[in-house]
Amino acid sequence: MTPQFPSGPPPYPLGAPLVRREGRLKVTGAARYAAEHTPPGCAYAWPVAATVARGRVTAVDTARALALPGVCAVLTHENAPRLAAADDPTLSVLQEDRVPHRGWYVALAVADSLEAARAAAEAVRVTYESDTHDVRLSAGHPGLYAPETANGGYPGTRERGDFDAAFAAAPVTVDATYTVPPLHNHPMEPHASTAHWDDGHLTVHDSSQGSTKVCEDLAALFTLDKSDVTVVSEHVGGGFGSKGTPRPQVVLAAMAARHTGRPVKLSLPRRQMPAVVGHRAPTVQRVRIGAGEDGVITALAHEVATHTSTVKEFVEQAAVPGRVMYTSPNSRTVHRVVPLDVPSPSWMRAPGEAPGMYALESAVDELAVLLDIDPVELRMRNEPDTEPDSDRAFSSRHLVGCLREGAQRFGWQPRDPRPAVRPEGRLLLGTGVASATYPVFQAASEAEAHADADGGFRIRLNATDIGTGARTVLAQVAAAALGVPEDRVGIEIGSSDLPPALLAGGSAGTGSWGWAVHKACTGLRARLRDHVGPLPSDGFTVTADTRQETAERSPYARHSFGATFAEVQVDTVTGEVRVRRLLGVFAAGRILNSRTARSQFIGGMTMGLGMALMEGSGLDPAFGDFAECDLASYHVPACADVPRIEAYWLDEEDPHLNPMGSKGIGEIGIVGTAAAIANAVRHATGVRLRDLPLTPDKLL
Ligand code: MOS
Repeated sequence: MTPQFPSGPPPYPLGAPLVRREGRLKVTGAARYAAEHTPPGCAYAWPVAATVARGRVTAVDTARALALPGVCAVLTHENAPRLAAADDPTLSVLQEDRVPHRGWYVALAVADSLEAARAAAEAVRVTYESDTHDVRLSAGHPGLYAPETANGGYPGTRERGDFDAAFAAAPVTVDATYTVPPLHNHPMEPHASTAHWDDGHLTVHDSSQGSTKVCEDLAALFTLDKSDVTVVSEHVGGGFGSKGTPRPQVVLAAMAARHTGRPVKLSLPRRQMPAVVGHRAPTVQRVRIGAGEDGVITALAHEVATHTSTVKEFVEQAAVPGRVMYTSPNSRTVHRVVPLDVPSPSWMRAPGEAPGMYALESAVDELAVLLDIDPVELRMRNEPDTEPDSDRAFSSRHLVGCLREGAQRFGWQPRDPRPAVRPEGRLLLGTGVASATYPVFQAASEAEAHADADGGFRIRLNATDIGTGARTVLAQVAAAALGVPEDRVGIEIGSSDLPPALLAGGSAGTGSWGWAVHKACTGLRARLRDHVGPLPSDGFTVTADTRQETAERSPYARHSFGATFAEVQVDTVTGEVRVRRLLGVFAAGRILNSRTARSQFIGGMTMGLGMALMEGSGLDPAFGDFAECDLASYHVPACADVPRIEAYWLDEEDPHLNPMGSKGIGEIGIVGTAAAIANAVRHATGVRLRDLPLTPDKLL
């Protein structure tokens, strides 16, 4: 049975807009990131990436590289330390001659300076035997198959009722196909690691969203005990999922340090990142909706085709939101995947939901246009009583509240639904709306709470701050549970030597860590209450974990919801789309810090703006790699692209989550944004574009 929590306010107020504890360190440059650690004698590494899309390495000539000044080693599959089998085959670097995709690492140069390492990497001569390759995804690709499960363990295919019959019988139907290109996370801080071995103990500073897993994987790969590996991720300059799992650079740095006997630093060159740190897999998504004249949906099908690499199966679960959002007695949600000769896709902010909701929420808008029903109203008419696919009760669902409040704050009405009737000079204006959803995940974490004899408190666990302000919010959770002011609480996070905790991912960090912190603090508080007299000089420590609490599946369907509204202008001469306003209202449980939460929401919405209008990595069919490999060609929103963005939330009480009553907030901001913008472009122009991003060439 899932524990129930009191729904009243916690004993000490959560939600205050406290400033980030490490903010000053960051803006003064005092906070040190993974590549800013330079142990004495540190060497620098630069990888060599494969220049064929499929084949094998037949020879590596390192003589010229090794003859350059300052070069200490070149690692190849022939001389690199042997690794034990990896859980994640993308970490089996320099172990064999096979080249599964262009950009796969085939050598690593190590030298006294970064410049020498780079020169050495360029001097390495690699000869290949290459095969023909295929990097082209299409909905009709003969290699597509239906996997048993998609990412997150969701069933690959779900059928309810009789979709075909219901769709055929429906008086109004939408049948449209939408595409999302490969997308890259491109965090500001590249993937970087500084590794050194000290008497058999491996210490790595790694830019990671969760160093517990990095530590476990390094221990497995190098056949060490976990206690012989320390992974520190003290400050992380963004990740968005690309740092959610260990990446090749951490393995390469550790290998090179072992091979050379020196500390080694490896910061991935930006241009190499797209091939080795994952990408959001492209999707071709066919959505069919059948509805009555009243707009009530009777048939819904969402069929997704996507790619994975030949290295591992990764299935972007974009059809999953179709199982959650709208009532329909007849439904089909299907994923099909084809292994291509492409880099391995991976996690990117709201994997599944972000591309899936772009398609679904665009199709719902198409239905609204066909029926001439206001799109906000249409969504309300299809609000389910229980989660459609599971029939489980929602722990809380306030989508309608988000739509209502959003419409009111945005000034949605009065809205003339006719397209292309709002000129402003050569511009056309339009507005659009889309819903958002993201599941509540929580996983076991451990935390230690310590009371010092002098009245201070210390919390220790391996949470990670990826820029979200994790230290600050955990201090708030601890202070609330202890019933003390938060400035008496010290927070120690960011090292695998601390009690193990979940990664910062899946919008699950704060809920998972906070639960363990709350439990440890509650135990400590009880112990202090029972104690008479001064504390012993070493204070009291209480350790708690949430293995039991998180082990069972909740009987409730637990999701965050939101509504996103956009106003755009489209230049009828240049085809340029600019967003004038974005406004989101979210229902995500209790908000624990209004300042950092707002930043997360608007950050997600900004990323959705990029997805809608500019981001995309094209796979070059001839060479087999991404055409846009740097920030000059892979465009993300700059300040001038980001207009007024407003984020609001409902006060949502949900007793079925965790003691804080919180859902996740890191991902829901991106989920509805691309569809809201695309729907606004259609309202502005009358043109329905179904292929992201909505660049000028497509509009003209
Ligand atoms: Mo996120 S894509 O769950 O790090």
